[in-house]
Amino acid sequence: MIKHIALLPGDGIGPEIVAEAVKVLDRVAEKFGHTFNYTEVDIGGCSIDRHGVPITDEGMATCKSSDSVLLGAVGGPKWDSCPPAIRPEKALLAVRKELGLFANLRPTRLFPQLASASPLKEEVIGNGIDLLIVRELTGGVYFGQRKTEEVDGELVATDIMPYSEHEIERIGRVAFETAMKRGKRLASVDKANVLDTSRLWRKTMHRLSEEYPEVTYSDILVDNTAMQLIRNPGQFDVLVTENMFGDILSDEASMLTGSIGMMPSASLSSGTLGMYEPIHGSAPDIAGQNIANPLGTILSGAMMLRYAFSLSEEADAIESAVNKVLDLGYRTTDIMQEGCKKVSCSEMGDLVAQQL
Ligand code: IPM
Ligand code: MG
Repeated sequence: MIKHIALLPGDGIGPEIVAEAVKVLDRVAEKFGHTFNYTEVDIGGCSIDRHGVPITDEGMATCKSSDSVLLGAVGGPKWDSCPPAIRPEKALLAVRKELGLFANLRPTRLFPQLASASPLKEEVIGNGIDLLIVRELTGGVYFGQRKTEEVDGELVATDIMPYSEHEIERIGRVAFETAMKRGKRLASVDKANVLDTSRLWRKTMHRLSEEYPEVTYSDILVDNTAMQLIRNPGQFDVLVTENMFGDILSDEASMLTGSIGMMPSASLSSGTLGMYEPIHGSAPDIAGQNIANPLGTILSGAMMLRYAFSLSEEADAIESAVNKVLDLGYRTTDIMQEGCKKVSCSEMGDLVAQQL
């Protein structure tokens, strides 16, 4: 199989972790007889520095014409004072929107070896964590109108959170279909006691749930979800929610896995093109030190093989290589435990590649 992958390393630790994912993908290609060609695209702050914009039209076109996109992270304090229209994050939102990546899957799985790295007590973690957050990614307050204006002598800022039925229905379908392939339990997260968007969300989900009688469906308020995730995470199988709730809850859920550095994600469109990225940010405080955890990005690479290229054997191979490396006691700083061997970002990439 020959595939063209757009590589968007981005800012901060982005280039370091993407390099390790590429190392692992190349090892997979060698072992299973595939060819992965990469085209690098600047995104975020590095693109602002080089081209004056967070992503160029040419860069966007490269993403659109590739078979898949692998992203590191964008942003950092250096660009915090950029005008909103050219902030690094703007490019990420633009790629999501232009590629139609409305469905963001954030699997939250605790490797049992990392149980004591999680800040939660082992009795809360119970028999392990395996849940999936399905986050709507191209609607809601992230893409509604926003403005800051002067009213009666003071500044007033407004961010609008629109959701249309078709947007809710399309992410709902992804969630129900995904639940069918997993534990057949779906919790839809909203704030229907306050928000109109949530009331439409709930109504639409209820309508869909009639088409999926095998899925045990429930509604749960977002504030309660935040509590339940750390009170009893084992109760969840698939969670579906709107854009901003999903952003917040997935960071919270990442702590169940031991470290935010462990959590991969896939952003899918209605076609085959998708973008794969770890859920964490650019971590400017540790950038350039070769100490970041590349496993979230490596596991995002596995998701790419599975979802974009239907290479499930290869994806399984990466996941079990990660498992073996953790079994052998190798840890990056963020997941370091007593009695384990601390390794750098690039050593971790080497170790995973060696296990393949
Ligand atoms: C994420 C990130 C982004 C988001 C930021 C960088 C714009 O936090 O992917 O979760 O809010 O979606
Ligand atoms: Mg986030």
